[in-house]
Amino acid sequence: MLEQKVLEILKQNNENYVSGESLSEHLGVTRTSIWKHINSLKEAGYNIESVTRKGYRLIDSSDILNEFEVKNGLQTDLIGNKIVYIKEVDSTNLYARKIALEGAEDGTVVIADAQTAGRGRLGRNWSSMAGKGIWMSVVLRPQISPEEVQIITLGASVAAIKAIYDVTGIRAGIKWPNDIICDGKKVCGILTEMNSEVEMVNFLILGIGINVNHTILDFPDEIKSIATSLAVYSGMNDKKNVKLFRRSDIIKKLLYELEQIYNKIKKGAVKDIIDEWKLYSATLGKQVRVIYKNDTYTGTALDIRDDGRLVVKCDDGCTRDVFSGEVSVRGILGYL
Ligand code: BTN
Repeated sequence: MLEQKVLEILKQNNENYVSGESLSEHLGVTRTSIWKHINSLKEAGYNIESVTRKGYRLIDSSDILNEFEVKNGLQTDLIGNKIVYIKEVDSTNLYARKIALEGAEDGTVVIADAQTAGRGRLGRNWSSMAGKGIWMSVVLRPQISPEEVQIITLGASVAAIKAIYDVTGIRAGIKWPNDIICDGKKVCGILTEMNSEVEMVNFLILGIGINVNHTILDFPDEIKSIATSLAVYSGMNDKKNVKLFRRSDIIKKLLYELEQIYNKIKKGAVKDIIDEWKLYSATLGKQVRVIYKNDTYTGTALDIRDDGRLVVKCDDGCTRDVFSGEVSVRGILGYL
């Protein structure tokens, strides 16, 4: 698309002016056509300055999310080869499921600027305000059994931790199995949904939500005390420089890290993923409360097994493996 070519040239020129004449010569179109494309880029939110006799320059500070911004500089071979960007959708997981049933390829990524019915784990809602976060689902078609899916989910939390650190410098932790936590509050959640036969997974939808540029007022009242965003957290540590992060940068890094994890899973290097998960754990060694069906017990989180089960040394002396259910960790998400 010509509009993208104009954008690419402006980006390559790093905030320097590019004349309308050179753009029109380079792209083989009239200057009026360049002017029209510049206007539609401005309408899409790009901050482009036009100065007579100098030309156009992109003031590249904006957090614009679209397919081009994610593709531009993406360093993956598979994940993100196809990206579907939607301004507003009910849930990217539902949309991804629909296109997976229609045959969407392994590694297809669905990204929305807003979700009207974002879904969380255990049947909860996921608040997904426009322009503030990363609401994304990846279609994966691994050749694994349903029992092995937990490793992908754990691996996805490792990928999220690494991408967040790489782009923002924030060191988050993982609450088992895959909540990403900053300052005892949730900054990112992962919802993996699968479509499977008895022995084989047909496809997985890996849904990832990251609260990026919310202020604390942006969160609904009922989650204000347990949710945070990367911007809020970075502002807590450095009140003078509250940063807004570019969502497309985090997504690119996240897709890259997800691909590394996916390749490890394909090679059977599950132990590596578990070891990395332990490195970032905000759960092991902590006091936990486990609610599973009608049973509630407390204890200390000891370890995580190679299939992703959490090992808990219960207060009554016995050791139990937790595969699913709700685990609260003392000091995190309001469990005091
Ligand atoms: C959780 O409860 O921790 C999981 C939250 C997962 C939210 C993401 S946002 C993108 C994707 N689409 C959804 O509807 N949910 C997931």
